[in-house]
Amino acid sequence: MDDHIRFDPEALTLHLLDQRLLPDQEVHVSCRTVQDVIAALQNMVVRGAPAIGVTAAWGCALAAAGAGNGPDWRDRLETGLETLARARPTAVNLRWAVDRLRGLWRARRDADQPALLALFLDEARRMQEEDVAACKALGRFGADCLQDGDSVLTHCNAGALATAGYGTALGVIRAAVEQGKRIRVIADETRPFLQGARLTAWELARDNIPVRVACDNACALLMQKGLVQRVVVGADRIAANGDAANKIGTLGVAILARHFGIPFYVAAPLSTIDPAAANGAAIPIEERPAGEVTHMGGRRICPESVPVYNFAFDVTPAALIAGIITERGVLRPPLGPAIAHILASCREV
Ligand code: MRU
Repeated sequence: MDDHIRFDPEALTLHLLDQRLLPDQEVHVSCRTVQDVIAALQNMVVRGAPAIGVTAAWGCALAAAGAGNGPDWRDRLETGLETLARARPTAVNLRWAVDRLRGLWRARRDADQPALLALFLDEARRMQEEDVAACKALGRFGADCLQDGDSVLTHCNAGALATAGYGTALGVIRAAVEQGKRIRVIADETRPFLQGARLTAWELARDNIPVRVACDNACALLMQKGLVQRVVVGADRIAANGDAANKIGTLGVAILARHFGIPFYVAAPLSTIDPAAANGAAIPIEERPAGEVTHMGGRRICPESVPVYNFAFDVTPAALIAGIITERGVLRPPLGPAIAHILASCREV
């Protein structure tokens, strides 16, 4: 799975595998403008925090391309970048990616529009490559947290599709399998968007990694029956104290894992850590359209006019997390100091 985010530099077009249509159809959506990219992010053509970040990096390049070279190109670019950064609120990788390119621009304020476009294209390509490398590195560290014969439960899709490739939670599983460990995966279906049933199951089945899909509400029973040895999930934003936002339902899984004494791991690149968020309360939680809950497969499943909750994420407190698996190693509790230490050591490099 390495062409789900593909940029054509000749045509200045970003091709995104439309994740809404999986597993039935493999169709790419073409984005030629930053507005196309914003729509693709908001409509979930592409989703998953690191994939959102890499897509946003290409979106910045398209914003630079679309700014033209008239006298106000800088204003138009700034507006494009800020609108892009606000496309979805929870995954911090989005703003992280836009800020990284904006920082490059600040450092080269004298660059004209063609020079800036070339810089942005180069950096976006680098960020895509770095994300795959980070996933592979964190996968290797995380594989040590899994034992031969483990049945690993995961929630949502933190796989190749949710990153530039290889995956975070699924990267850990892939690396363990590559080491020869026999791992079986339980993929929560992940209502309402069904990332687990549609995407995680699709990815793992393609790689011949044994996977079973379970309803979200089967989690307690599966744990009670001894069918789960480890939980590994991804994250959309990790606060400075280790509280971790991930797909709605993750918090329930973490509470159950603690009840049944099952280690609960979060796998994420360092780009998912937001040191500006002191704790989980500072993480904005996206609310998505009601139709995602009221309808399934285009058919209404709730009475008309009944309101719903559709919070897309929840926050798991650091106290429930056995470790945060990053590309620089596994951070162990107390997570706040471990996060501060790893970020400081990155700044020194
Ligand atoms: O709404 P989504 O599908 O973008 O939510 C995705 C998740 O919650 C993932 O678990 C998270 O981004 C980690 S992806 C490696």
